[in-house]
Amino acid sequence: MGAPLAGGPSTPELAAAVSEAGGFGFVAAGYKSVAEVAREIAEVRATTQRPFGVNIFFPTRLEADEEAISAYAETLVAETERYGVALGEPCWSDDGWGAKLELVARERPAVVSFAFGCPEAQVVAWLQECKIEVWCTVTTPAEAQTAVAAGVDALVVQGAEAGGHQSSFDDTDASPIGLLPLLQLVRRVTDLPLVAAGGIASGTGVAAALAAGATAAQVGSGLMLTPEAGTSEAHRAAFAADAPTALTRAFTGRRARGIANRFMHDHDAHAPKGYPHVHYLTAPLRAAARASGDAGGINLWAGQAYRLSQVAPAAELIERWAAELSAAR
Ligand SMILES: Cc1cc2nc3c(=O)[nH]c(=O)nc-3n(C[C@H](O)[C@H](O)[C@H](O)COP(=O)(O)O)c2cc1C
Repeated sequence: MGAPLAGGPSTPELAAAVSEAGGFGFVAAGYKSVAEVAREIAEVRATTQRPFGVNIFFPTRLEADEEAISAYAETLVAETERYGVALGEPCWSDDGWGAKLELVARERPAVVSFAFGCPEAQVVAWLQECKIEVWCTVTTPAEAQTAVAAGVDALVVQGAEAGGHQSSFDDTDASPIGLLPLLQLVRRVTDLPLVAAGGIASGTGVAAALAAGATAAQVGSGLMLTPEAGTSEAHRAAFAADAPTALTRAFTGRRARGIANRFMHDHDAHAPKGYPHVHYLTAPLRAAARASGDAGGINLWAGQAYRLSQVAPAAELIERWAAELSAAR
């Protein structure tokens, strides 16, 4: 199944191609307006009759030290000169939470999954009454227990290997748990279906996750070089090099895994917690870097297995992974 990939890579074409090929595609609602999400849902439906999901950011109010964020802004002055743009306004936003919930309740995709936290039981039950399956991404056994208590239908178990933001409920500093131990630990606390995510980009990777207790697996980085993905050219080019990945708060104020680059190197040590404030603060810099093709200034989200990503249509990759999975079992 395709993982939700907000910030460009997820497109309606990718979601539809994954679902149409027998996988399960996602519309990534994060950072988009409700109208854009509605348009994307319609586009997926115009291309495939098959089921798909919509992923929404749960709006947590995490620690955001305004002084620390202002101090961080001061360390970014050289970046504003480099790219010739001003910093963005660091602010909190619920990313259109209420309106996006209303939208999915109306549109009724097969699944709605949540990142960064779990809605209360009442919201989960309301979506389920709309005949929508509710999934929640978890990064610890304790988060899994919270989501189970809220009544969700399945858990997306995201390991430390995963590209993009760690979906932890509290953006903890604790050492993130790798997918294999996490699957085993979460399986001990629930019988719910588990969707494994993080560092999976081959049929053998899927087989390993299934053997460790997962019911299905999500591939994120492994789909980012497909023609259907909206991954920027500079981001695609960075996938062809061989730099290591690292976790950083430098771009968004929330821990996320990306390919190590200049911006990460220069700013990781000063970056405070503060999501989504820091996301908005650095957004103009990242947009300018992307526009000028400067991979050194972009958040190059990628999981630890990103070097396995291949340039091929999503359907071809899914067929290849299915064959590898059959051979491995
Ligand atoms: C570019 C990018 C954007 C992402 N955006 C989202 C998102 O909007 N919602 C979400 O739940 N997870 C998001 N993730 C995490 C993925 O859904 C998934 O957990 C991760 O890609 C799995 O690891 P992999 O990249 O090694 O396959 C994102 C990951 C990447 C690489």
